[in-house]
Amino acid sequence: MRPKAQPGSPVEWEGRLRSESPLKIMVMAHGRGSGTYTKIKASMMENAKLSLDGQEYDLPVVTGTEGERGIDITSLRGESGAITLDSGYGNTGSCQSSICFINGEQGILRYRGFPIEQLAENASFAEVCYLLIYGELPTADQLKAFSGGLTNHSMIHEDMKKFFEGYPASAHPMAVLSSMIASLATYYPKIEGDEDEDLNFIRVLAKAKTIAAWAYKKSIGQPLVYPLNHLSYCGNFLNMMFSVPTEDYQASPVVENALNVLLILHADHEQNCSTSTVRMVASSQANIFASLSAGICALWGPLHGGANQKVLEMLEMIRADGADYKKYVNLAKDRDSEFRLMGFGHRVYKNFDPRATILRKACDEVLEELGVDDPLLDIAKQLEDVALNDDYFIERKLYPNVDFYSGVLYRAMGIPTNMFTVMFALGRLPGWISHLKELRDDPGSRINRPRQVYTGATQRDYVPLDQR
Ligand code: CMC
Repeated sequence: MRPKAQPGSPVEWEGRLRSESPLKIMVMAHGRGSGTYTKIKASMMENAKLSLDGQEYDLPVVTGTEGERGIDITSLRGESGAITLDSGYGNTGSCQSSICFINGEQGILRYRGFPIEQLAENASFAEVCYLLIYGELPTADQLKAFSGGLTNHSMIHEDMKKFFEGYPASAHPMAVLSSMIASLATYYPKIEGDEDEDLNFIRVLAKAKTIAAWAYKKSIGQPLVYPLNHLSYCGNFLNMMFSVPTEDYQASPVVENALNVLLILHADHEQNCSTSTVRMVASSQANIFASLSAGICALWGPLHGGANQKVLEMLEMIRADGADYKKYVNLAKDRDSEFRLMGFGHRVYKNFDPRATILRKACDEVLEELGVDDPLLDIAKQLEDVALNDDYFIERKLYPNVDFYSGVLYRAMGIPTNMFTVMFALGRLPGWISHLKELRDDPGSRINRPRQVYTGATQRDYVPLDQR
């Protein structure tokens, strides 16, 4: 199944700059020379120069295949005693990666070089999984074998069914998914060699959809539905979600296609919060199930994948409050209010999120084909129009992100709101797996262990309890 030549070899160090614009990074002094502010200048030379306490340090500049530049500070602390400080990691590259390319200014997203628009239009989710993990589009035979694996490994150990009985019906399916994925390590505990590793990729992709659907079935008190081998990845998931033993069920092709597109759009997004978490955990050589479970937990937060659930809740709240969307735009702008327009803004996209563009169109088409007239879609569009023409949002470059329209689409497909982030997780799994694999295949990778600038109390003596 694995291609012979592993594509996507690491980007070479070039130490070359393509423009004369000065680079600025903030470096906080630490240890020697503490408290001294530093400056960095880079030019058309091979290195960037950093000056700290009157001493100059040469730092190599790395240029990626798309011209992105990074100043390599690997030697900085050893030579100067200083570290860099970058709250939220907005300026920090944690690795070199050949999986996903984003240009936030131009709204470009590519997986292994292929534009997201082309993949969403033409590919199946299984193809995209293969592409992300192994670096190339599969041949017909490779795809057959890979898809067959995704089908044949969909069942989960019968004993795991008992776990579902233990969760309260109100359990959030993200809690169930993360626990169940971590629990797979108890069934597949072997130290991962090459073959096991590939099998575990398949196992986790195949079983996650069964676990997700069963978490939903448990929450509504319906019998768990087993996977069916003749169905596609998306068809199988929909069948496990929506069929009941008392009736025939046939997933709508419109819904199946929409799900395929949604999963592809979620599949990877370079070093986002959850992917960085997976890489962080995997860097300690924790097993794949533990690493992916950690990624699911990171995705859950409302500033990340949890935003799609929050978008729907926000739209419902606005509708219940008389659909006065302008009131909520104003609230989002109010510094004294905690309210944010969920589904707006992105750390990387500062023009438009290409995934949101695809989904906005898909929303119109799918709702029309399914004959769904959803007032929440109208509110979403009005909200988008107001926000896109408002100075606050224009100045801050806040545009709808992938979560803004995915919620409306999931809702039209019959997916319940608390399952939205689970859907995101199902889609993101191949991305997490490909990053984990990239990290493991890199002979130079080390345990991820950032530093800090300590700001707490200096040394003091213990005070006995009766003297405090
Ligand atoms: N509504 C109102 N104001 C906003 C919003 C928003 N959704 N997002 C950012 N801002 C403002 C923010 O208050 C700040 O204003 P000021 O400069 O006056 O202090 C400015 O825009 C910059 O925001 P930030 O929080 O510093 O930006 P960030 O890059 O740290 O955060 C974000 C990015 C996505 C967390 C943020 O835009 C946000 O909270 N959005 C809503 C949640 C959301 O939709 N998350 C899904 C992200 S896409 C899916 C994924 O990849 O996870």
